[in-house]
Amino acid sequence: MKWWQKAVIYEIYPKSFYDSNGDGIGDIPGIIKKLPYIKDLGVYAIWLTPIYLSPQVDNGYDVADYRKVDPMFGATDDLKELIKEAHKQNIKVILDMVANHTSDQCVWFRESKKSKDNYFSDFYIWKDPKPDGSAPNNWAASFGGSAWTYVPERNQYYLHYYASQQPDLNWENPIVRQYIFDAMRYWKAQGVDGWRLDVITQISKDLTFKDAPKVPGKKYVPLKNTSGPHMHKFIHELNREVLSPFDMMSVGEAPNSSIDEILKLTAPEREELDMAFSFEHMRIDKATGPNGELAVKKPDFKQLKDVLSKMQTKLANKAWNALYFENHDRSRIPSRWGDDKKYRYESATAFATILHGLCGTPFVFQGEEIGMTNPQYDMNQYEDIELKNSYQEQVEEKKLLTTKEFLDVEHKIARDNSRAPMQWNSSKNAGFSQGTPWYQVNPNYDEINVEKDRQSKKSVFKYYQDLIKLRHNEDILTEGTYKELIPEDENVFAYKRDLNDKHWLVLVNLTSKTIPMADLKSDEIKNYSKIIIHNYEGQEEKQLRPYEAVILAK
Ligand code: GLC
Ligand code: CA
Repeated sequence: MKWWQKAVIYEIYPKSFYDSNGDGIGDIPGIIKKLPYIKDLGVYAIWLTPIYLSPQVDNGYDVADYRKVDPMFGATDDLKELIKEAHKQNIKVILDMVANHTSDQCVWFRESKKSKDNYFSDFYIWKDPKPDGSAPNNWAASFGGSAWTYVPERNQYYLHYYASQQPDLNWENPIVRQYIFDAMRYWKAQGVDGWRLDVITQISKDLTFKDAPKVPGKKYVPLKNTSGPHMHKFIHELNREVLSPFDMMSVGEAPNSSIDEILKLTAPEREELDMAFSFEHMRIDKATGPNGELAVKKPDFKQLKDVLSKMQTKLANKAWNALYFENHDRSRIPSRWGDDKKYRYESATAFATILHGLCGTPFVFQGEEIGMTNPQYDMNQYEDIELKNSYQEQVEEKKLLTTKEFLDVEHKIARDNSRAPMQWNSSKNAGFSQGTPWYQVNPNYDEINVEKDRQSKKSVFKYYQDLIKLRHNEDILTEGTYKELIPEDENVFAYKRDLNDKHWLVLVNLTSKTIPMADLKSDEIKNYSKIIIHNYEGQEEKQLRPYEAVILAK
């Protein structure tokens, strides 16, 4: 076993974690202050989203200098100090490498846009306009509009899969690859233990650059497949040049990859990545309206079970799963799939039980461990560039939705839902900052915060601690086989984990209804009776209560 296979990894969004100097922005000294809290939770590693110099158009996913810590987060020495302190407590530190694109303020891009024949000219993807002067093709950017922006100095367009301030790097250029690899080696020298690789499956482009098949009503068309022909080759090279020689863990973000692609990315013999974040299980509540408008639907838990089970069985003995429900791009699970009012504790712990019972490495996003919820913000309280661009297109330009309809969707799924500051206690600004927080604290902080949760009888934090301990102490969770029971049941997730003579059952009610045990069409379930972990007190044999979750042994 590698260390990361036994680990639970805690994701920190530094900007919103803890502000140590009162400027309203979470920072690295703030993370150092909270290390005892992280240690208490029991995780083996922390992953920090980008802390490099950045104009923050996309909260640091627009990097201006890969080797500088942005002063708003502290100095490089603070990061070194964090790594030293974390290592003292046996906590590994994982950074986020944004290798698909830089900021348009990165000196590489500022030079590149000047002319067609300087050292940096080919660092980005430049194409001539069509004869009529328009963009080279109809590709849409992920954050709205065309994926191409015109630059008069070169009389050319550059490609950006995200915002126009995030130009895509040209990975076909071997010098670009070396620059990225060098930056990663630089951070290794500072003690970093591994990488989360931002949209790494998008680094290779379709080199024909042809139009995507037209979609009625759409001027720009989102690419269905964003992985080009050299993706595996480039990732393999990254592995050989940096990851393996320096023994660094890797987890890649794989937005459009199928399970077969995930398997290719993570099968050890292919020497690419240790793990990859798949997106498929997060699409169970996504919908599109008849005119292409943003929509959500009731989560399809049958689909959730199918996708997670498919991942478990496809990767079994071949590769390793990265497990997550929440992160800085997703909203809060009790609000999204559970019940964040009456059954907040129960639904938070129910989904946690599902995730931590599976085979793979669980990732926990800051605040998930106390059951934080989505704030119900007004339009002017959102910050995210993706959301703002989408509002402009869907509500203002195309009038596909009213503001109210738009907000109804975003209250469920907006990325900003999870980016509101961490709720530490009931004091001013939830104890996040003595100043004015860069982003508004969820007004429910008086009721939901670390201090209160840890004093409560129903502590989500305590439940996470127990789950994390189980993962560390019980090989059955890391090494046991997986088998789903009652796959046809829409309301209950039941699966077995088996290792030698140990036999466990994970049983979770996904609804706010009470479900009679007699409804579960499996004779096996009744064979399990010894409680390993349970989110209710007292065993109830005849029924599953709302969001009841339990791991039982035979
Ligand atoms: C990834 C990040 C997201 C960012 C995007 C562009 O999906 O997780 O936050 O906006 O890449 O870098
Ligand atoms: Ca600060």
